[in-house]
Amino acid sequence: MEKLSVSWSSPSNIALVKYWGKIPHQIPCNPSVSFTLKNSLTIMDVEAEKTNAGEIQVDFFFEGKINEKFKSKIVKFLESERERFDWITNYKLTIKSENTFPHSSGIASSASSMSALCLSLLSLDEKITGVKTQTEDFYKEASDLSRRASGSAGRSVYPYLVSWGEIDSVVGSSNLFAAPVNKADIHPMFHDYCDSIMIVDAAEKSVSSRAGHSLMDSHPFRELRYKRAHENLEKLLSAMKEGKMEDFISIVEEDALMLHALMMTSTPSFILLKPMSLLLIEKIREYRRNTNIPVCFTIDAGPNIHLLYPKAHETAVKEWLAMEFKDLRIIHDETGPGPVKIKD
Ligand code: DP6
Repeated sequence: MEKLSVSWSSPSNIALVKYWGKIPHQIPCNPSVSFTLKNSLTIMDVEAEKTNAGEIQVDFFFEGKINEKFKSKIVKFLESERERFDWITNYKLTIKSENTFPHSSGIASSASSMSALCLSLLSLDEKITGVKTQTEDFYKEASDLSRRASGSAGRSVYPYLVSWGEIDSVVGSSNLFAAPVNKADIHPMFHDYCDSIMIVDAAEKSVSSRAGHSLMDSHPFRELRYKRAHENLEKLLSAMKEGKMEDFISIVEEDALMLHALMMTSTPSFILLKPMSLLLIEKIREYRRNTNIPVCFTIDAGPNIHLLYPKAHETAVKEWLAMEFKDLRIIHDETGPGPVKIKD
């Protein structure tokens, strides 16, 4: 029987202005922007064997072991994309996936894994249909498809700084796919950025992002949040263009704290931050005040703290981290070049 295979590696990303709240078909309620990471990757190998079974067939292995939970997510997604991939019921997919970062470490695995899956599906599609798409269109569709699988995954197909969602000042911006921010529109001080993830708690999240998004539907601060997120994004992009570090820091920290304030004030309310998260925030701000080194923090839907700083300050910051937080697990990452096709 005919067998085809492809492999992609795709990174996770960390949002600076957060996507939180969506309407049906994975349309975000506000635009967001993120740094694409370099070391936190999903490496995925997808093999398609012709069976003509007439139904979706998937074997999914995560780090060498069958994983039924993730398999059912993938099958559900493939069901919803049957029209796009009309060959999907004629092939059995064997998917082998690995992450270069630990599970539940505060690094979004759905962004890297879903983007790796979607890039692989589109590469397979090219092989099966014999129709090759131009590079730019390939990535645009990969972003759109990844967004439909998991919103933030749509940002992972592009390098460095990536925005997703309609923004007044960005011509051609869309809620359907992300787009890389042009390097010429980013001041050199923001070109190479580090993200050191300070692990407060590696336990599974108590509230999924999916459940969190839906709590925004009836949130009392909903409209205010969306208005503020738009403003934050516009201001952040202009601060990053003009090299205004103080503005960058204040917007990034505000947006992360707002995300958690929204969680705390939703019905039901939930608190993902731990006392240690707050302690780290205090320490980070104190270090910034004392040294003038422009460290700041962001936080995803969990208790772990992402410490962001320009690569130029890497040695000093890492020395401080090693000295001040001896017992804390820290994963060092930085901005990176986006997905790579490993095998075609
Ligand atoms: C807090 O992309 O994981 O990380 O679309 O339901 O899969 P789904 O949600 P997901 O939400 C990410 C939320 C966030 C902020 C962000 O990455 O922008």
